[in-house]
Amino acid sequence: MAGTAAHLSNVWATATNLEIERGVGCRVIDANGHEYLDFTAGLGAASTGHAHPKVTAAIAEQAGRIIHSQINVYRHDKLEPLANKLAEITPEGIDTFYFGSTSDEIVEASVKLAKHATGRRNVIAFDGAFHGRTHYALAMSSSRAIDRAGYGPLPGSVFIAPFPDPHSSDQEREVSRALRGLDRVLSTQVASEQVAAFVIEPVIGERGYIPTPKGFMEGLAHRCEEHGILLIADETQSGFGRTGKMFAIEALGVQPDIICMAKGISSGFPFAAIGTRRALDEQWVTGSHSGSSNGNPIACAAALATIEVLQEPGFIDNVKERGDQLIDALREMQQLDQALLHVRGRGLMVATEFDSPERAQAVVDHCFQEHNVILMIAGTFRRTIRWSPPLIVTQAEVDEAVSAFSSAIRATG
Ligand SMILES: Cc1ncc(COP(=O)(O)O)c(C=O)c1O
Repeated sequence: MAGTAAHLSNVWATATNLEIERGVGCRVIDANGHEYLDFTAGLGAASTGHAHPKVTAAIAEQAGRIIHSQINVYRHDKLEPLANKLAEITPEGIDTFYFGSTSDEIVEASVKLAKHATGRRNVIAFDGAFHGRTHYALAMSSSRAIDRAGYGPLPGSVFIAPFPDPHSSDQEREVSRALRGLDRVLSTQVASEQVAAFVIEPVIGERGYIPTPKGFMEGLAHRCEEHGILLIADETQSGFGRTGKMFAIEALGVQPDIICMAKGISSGFPFAAIGTRRALDEQWVTGSHSGSSNGNPIACAAALATIEVLQEPGFIDNVKERGDQLIDALREMQQLDQALLHVRGRGLMVATEFDSPERAQAVVDHCFQEHNVILMIAGTFRRTIRWSPPLIVTQAEVDEAVSAFSSAIRATG
């Protein structure tokens, strides 16, 4: 358990009181040797599991050569190979990459790129999205009021348009309703020729793992084409195999102009990237954006090793199979308890939504206290449990977590 934290900020909310000494695969281990099954992957970032030997070795090797090599000053030998690898695996047309450190930083940078590339100043984000906690990223986020409270005024030039209600029984009608709402924003709040980009998560994360409907994404792409608006896909949580595809947008039948990548790209090592088309990047004025840690060599080594692991035969298949196993088992649990309202997800980005935040929290607490299984709450109303284990999770580990959940449902009902 964590000791006193007299000198640490109190600003972080905490899901557990664990003090971890190390991690192996899907487990984290405390100083007393107690093991916990981590179904959070540290906010979805530890894609290859904790301390994957190939990623750890790549980091150690790189750290032994050079830790910091600032990209404006000189370049190192991992930059080109990583950009080439990303060009291979990102959606068609994406061929040019910018490297930063965190998701919110990269989401903000993607908007700066879109502003230079279009000469326009405004962006539209969608109701319930989460794009980060820095001021502009926060202005684009509306998953929870607490994230914004006390931080205003937030930057202007961000407009929030409706997102289809996932609980509507008529999804087609719901998609049309949300698109009509977007059109209304374009006719009443900001003219389409002044909008640089739509920013959207292919699976809405923090609002509670809600897959963006294909028809909605197609509607956005259609409006992008019609009005010269860029489509920015924030894949910082959904990318790198998390949904059973390398990128979640692959299942949605549209091509982004800019893609934001982080978290799973480097197994959680602080690294993030933007991918775009060369022609758009050429409009991003040289010298107008950068950062001291941009293209950090250890982060690039971690990303290269991570992608190599993700591309190993059977790796992504495991995500699909384990995701199906998890969703099927959780849907069976719905027979046990009517309070478990919804089970949804893509690959290993799965949500179980209860009828109250108290019940969801009681289930999470029981899993942790009685079964050493770590789960986390998500969602606007805090009644959703998110399941985002490392992508290397095994059939037995999924069974173990589901069995803890089943016991929690019985104990807390
Ligand atoms: C889609 C999305 N964008 C941005 C962020 C911000 O990420 P970070 O806190 O790593 O900067 C998150 C965090 O969960 C996210 O899910």
